[in-house]
Amino acid sequence: MLAARRGWRVLRRCAALPPARAAATRLRVRQALAAREPAGGVAVQGWVRSVRSQKEVLFLHINDGSSLENLQVVADPSLGTSLCCSWFLRDLTFGSAVEVQGKLVKSPHRMQSMELKAETIRVMGPCDTWAFPLKMKERHPLEYVRQFPHLRCRNNTLSSLLRVRSEATAAIHSFFQENGYVHIHTPIITSNDCEGAGELFQIETSNEARESGEKNHFFDVPAFLTVSGQLHLEVMAGAFTHVFTFGPTFRAENSQSRRHLAEFYMVEAELSFTESLQDIMQVMEDLFKTATSTVLSKCPHDVDLFHKYIAPAQKGRLEQMLKKRFVTISYSEAVEILKQASQTFTFKPEWGCDLQTEHEKYLVKHCGEVPLFVINYPYDLKPFYMRDNEDGPQHTVAAIDLLVPGIGELCGGSLREERLPFIESRLQRLGLADAYQWYLDLRKFGSVPHGGFGMGFERYLQCILGVDNIKDVIPFPRFSHSCLL
Ligand code: 4AD
Ligand code: MG
Repeated sequence: MLAARRGWRVLRRCAALPPARAAATRLRVRQALAAREPAGGVAVQGWVRSVRSQKEVLFLHINDGSSLENLQVVADPSLGTSLCCSWFLRDLTFGSAVEVQGKLVKSPHRMQSMELKAETIRVMGPCDTWAFPLKMKERHPLEYVRQFPHLRCRNNTLSSLLRVRSEATAAIHSFFQENGYVHIHTPIITSNDCEGAGELFQIETSNEARESGEKNHFFDVPAFLTVSGQLHLEVMAGAFTHVFTFGPTFRAENSQSRRHLAEFYMVEAELSFTESLQDIMQVMEDLFKTATSTVLSKCPHDVDLFHKYIAPAQKGRLEQMLKKRFVTISYSEAVEILKQASQTFTFKPEWGCDLQTEHEKYLVKHCGEVPLFVINYPYDLKPFYMRDNEDGPQHTVAAIDLLVPGIGELCGGSLREERLPFIESRLQRLGLADAYQWYLDLRKFGSVPHGGFGMGFERYLQCILGVDNIKDVIPFPRFSHSCLL
């Protein structure tokens, strides 16, 4: 609009088709910025991030999601007299989609190496800047852009986040593949409640829902969205020894907290022939450190944006997390530390009670703001599959939670109960022995000591980037009372 107002003829709608041109080489913005030599016949497509008109030149910045940095396009006003751009040519504004063809040349500006000298500019999708909720050159707060899940990816912060998320996904897959794990697609629809916490979304067809019939289940049995792929991974660990899965997970937790979603991604690993919690903790620590180092080296600018503008203290914190060894304490020690704390907690710490977020944060601080393993939790607090430590009046299981600065619980894991009599009697007491016959079979046919863990992927991203609210690290957040799009 700005350009149109100032009379750039190149930007006007034009009735004639452009003359046939030799096919230009299509480049992503990232490739164009990284080019070493000038090149003619280049085409770049993207969305306009800024338009600036000077006396004799029009500057555009365009972005196609391939990098945080925009490509500067320089257009000569005489361009408009020589070119009829397209049937679709519309005003060139912030937010519009464009294709620019021209020459890639060395930029005279210090801040960038290459810029595109436009020969044609085609506006492929105009944008009504007045109605568009994102505004040129504004750093919108995360809470503001959260209202527009369909548009916020065109904002710098969210596009950086999504590139980091993509690199982190790849880094996690590489970590496991390089360490000999087999990737398993565990099912999303399941008939078990792995965690036994009853936070399940039940699946029924729309007809069933209408008739609220309990008899005619689509699968003949009640079915749910998975809360964890662990039990299916345990099946596979009985053949492959080292397996992992990384997929969507669902919890009907009625929580509006900054750490909970109804749909989140979980990375889970299961290791056979493992007798000590230490082995599992080592994998957790290695995964965290290796994946994070990879992300830092693959997309430093995107990570920097968070460390500079969103969470300035996070860079130093993360460096400490990567440099120092993670600390380990037992649950019983944790309760003693909490009892002796000068701080008063909303929930009074008692042996046998779950650790609350306030407790987790205190413990991490107390132990030097580094990731902290808390191990050996009370038997009665944890799910049926955890291995009994057979340890007297303060009866515990071989559980591990990994707590990290600023977030609290990042990973949960355990050794699994591989001994048939133990698991059988526990399932019987819970009235689950019939439903879990197949699980008991795993203990009858070649059972081995094994264990594993799950890491919340969104909490991992919050931890490395310093993002306070989990809703800002997933493309389309789902939580109680909200399922937009
Ligand atoms: O501790 P959790 O419940 O462990 C399990 O589900 C195990 N079966 C995993 C395993 O051993 N294979 O969940 C694992 C992690 C948590 O530590 C947390 O980071 C994340 O998943 N998580 C959530 N993240 C976002 N929103 C929620 N509602 C979450 N619930 C758990
Ligand atoms: Mg847990």
